[in-house]
Amino acid sequence: MAGEPKSVTVPWVAGAPERGDHLVMVTAYDFPQGRTADAAGVDVILVGDSLAMVVLGHPDTLSVTMDEMIHHTRAVRRGVKRALLVADMPYGSFHLGPDQAVANAIRFVKEAGAQAVKIEGARPELVAAMTAAEVPVMAHLGLTPQSVHRFGGFKVQGRDEAARRFILDAAEQVEAAGAFSLVLECVPTDLAAEVTRRLSIPTIGIGAGAGCTGQVLVYHDLLGLEERIAPRFVRRYAELGKLSREGIARFADDVRAGRFPAPEESYGGAAAPRPAEEPAKLYG
Ligand code: KIV
Repeated sequence: MAGEPKSVTVPWVAGAPERGDHLVMVTAYDFPQGRTADAAGVDVILVGDSLAMVVLGHPDTLSVTMDEMIHHTRAVRRGVKRALLVADMPYGSFHLGPDQAVANAIRFVKEAGAQAVKIEGARPELVAAMTAAEVPVMAHLGLTPQSVHRFGGFKVQGRDEAARRFILDAAEQVEAAGAFSLVLECVPTDLAAEVTRRLSIPTIGIGAGAGCTGQVLVYHDLLGLEERIAPRFVRRYAELGKLSREGIARFADDVRAGRFPAPEESYGGAAAPRPAEEPAKLYG
């Protein structure tokens, strides 16, 4: 991409619509995932509260805590050199109002090295408060998974006229409040395209069609590590779940048949000849 930055910044992401760039965002939850996504050249890495479901095995995102999010954001931070690192404000970390939202957003910056936060819902007052506290904010509308009980399940949003109007208005309000980008999740393609046309900040879609400025997928979905559910909007680019099972099963077969370890995978005593390539230190 022309004019690609050495490290991605908030203004560079915000300028994507003007440049005509398609932004790429993926989630990551630990050091190797952060390093892998960064090396693959994505623009934005989100430590999503989807952590609760795809890593911690919960049925929804509601139970993940600030401390768990900080712990995982720190790990991802160590692996990310170029991409913009965004941390997701978990359920309960901002619902008490602007003071709580600002305090937790600052925690992500100070304790975990996040460069921005993402917040679910139509909350312009919180977007404004966090932005004023120097924490850039990515907004998130449509199917906001923290609203799962109010929505009565994980359902496409914005299908009827009132819901469509609500999302259009909310999108303009979060932009006016200072959001530098907006995630649109599970909304009809034409609605996402209309939001994208109306805003000057980038929209990043997930299940929102091709009319958004950029696209995001969850790491475990796009690489086939999450095999329990396969939403319509997921495209799998690898089958790491299957590959991992096959690799571990081959290891188990080798151990059970006495084929692992081989002599070259074992150490001799002081008298045994050392292979020339064996490093002096094994780790570090
Ligand atoms: O938590 C998450 O992974 C997200 C993305 C789906 C945008 O919010």
